[in-house]
Amino acid sequence: MLAIETSCDETAIAILKGSTLLASEVASQIALHAPYGGVVPEVASRNHLRMLKPVLQRVLEIARLKIEEIDAFAATCGPGLATSLMIGASAAKGFAVVTGKPFLAINHLEGHLLSPFFGTTEGVRSAVGLVVSGGHTLLVDIESIGHYRLLGQTHDDAAGEAFDKVGKLLGLPYPGGPNVNHLAIGGDASRYDFPRSMIDSGDFSFSFSGLKTSMRYLLPKLESIHLPDLCASFQEAIVDVLVAKTVQAAAATGRSVVALSGGVSCNTRLREKMEEVCAAQPALCTDNAAMIGYVAALKFAHGETSPFSADIDPNLPLVA
Ligand code: KG4
Ligand code: ZN
Repeated sequence: MLAIETSCDETAIAILKGSTLLASEVASQIALHAPYGGVVPEVASRNHLRMLKPVLQRVLEIARLKIEEIDAFAATCGPGLATSLMIGASAAKGFAVVTGKPFLAINHLEGHLLSPFFGTTEGVRSAVGLVVSGGHTLLVDIESIGHYRLLGQTHDDAAGEAFDKVGKLLGLPYPGGPNVNHLAIGGDASRYDFPRSMIDSGDFSFSFSGLKTSMRYLLPKLESIHLPDLCASFQEAIVDVLVAKTVQAAAATGRSVVALSGGVSCNTRLREKMEEVCAAQPALCTDNAAMIGYVAALKFAHGETSPFSADIDPNLPLVA
């Protein structure tokens, strides 16, 4: 299975044999977008086109395979940026047509959701899934592969978006998430009191836009800016809500496994608080193609493929 992921600003390709990863390469565009403080879709799209060929050559080399030896081609078809999605999806369809092999359209969120199970001996298990990325914050009841129930999601900003916006307010380089996390390590998380929005709402919805507003109002009132304390206090508020809601969801569904995924699951404080589930595979947390290939391989093993008419969908839902 050769899987391509180009939903945002990472050009990623992976090759899997069954559920075994043979190669996984990610060409990050972070440096290109950093001067703009966020992802510029046009820039992302042009660079996917530029990077696709060298990344493809590299994975084929690492896996010691020729493109004719690939059995099926998969690509992320949504959600994501339309102009980014179309590059990877068109390429995968093109390879499938040329080689006469099947094509599989994969949901990016399903890739994140199942990525914690990748490489585990048990494979996909019933679990509560928390997907926390730059674009999404979802709690999902995972019954089995392809059978998901959306428990709740954010009403406004995604958790990663809150990290990035606050990072920007604090003058940190893009993306804010890892930088806030890094600075918070030496900070006092109890110094400033940020809102734990909706922590007792009794449902599995989230709201993170208030955090950025709190930070915006707090900053002008401070005599001096102590970045570690500010970052640690802000981060603690997000982590508290994510952990509390996930524990509530596990209790409500009776699931004994929590599957944490998405870029924000790289956060050391979040991992610390949900350690037992997340210790295994940080490399699979941020966008990559191995997670797309894993879902594609699982579906392909059940005889599932997609028609070439399967289109990209920037708003593709996880649960229809
Ligand atoms: O999953 P991902 O790579 O791309 C999306 O699908 O969005 O997630 C990227 C997000 C960004 O918002 C980034 O700031 C955040 O994940 N992130 C982190 C950390 N590492 C990445 N947020 C907090 N702490 C981190 N260590
Ligand atoms: Zn993602």
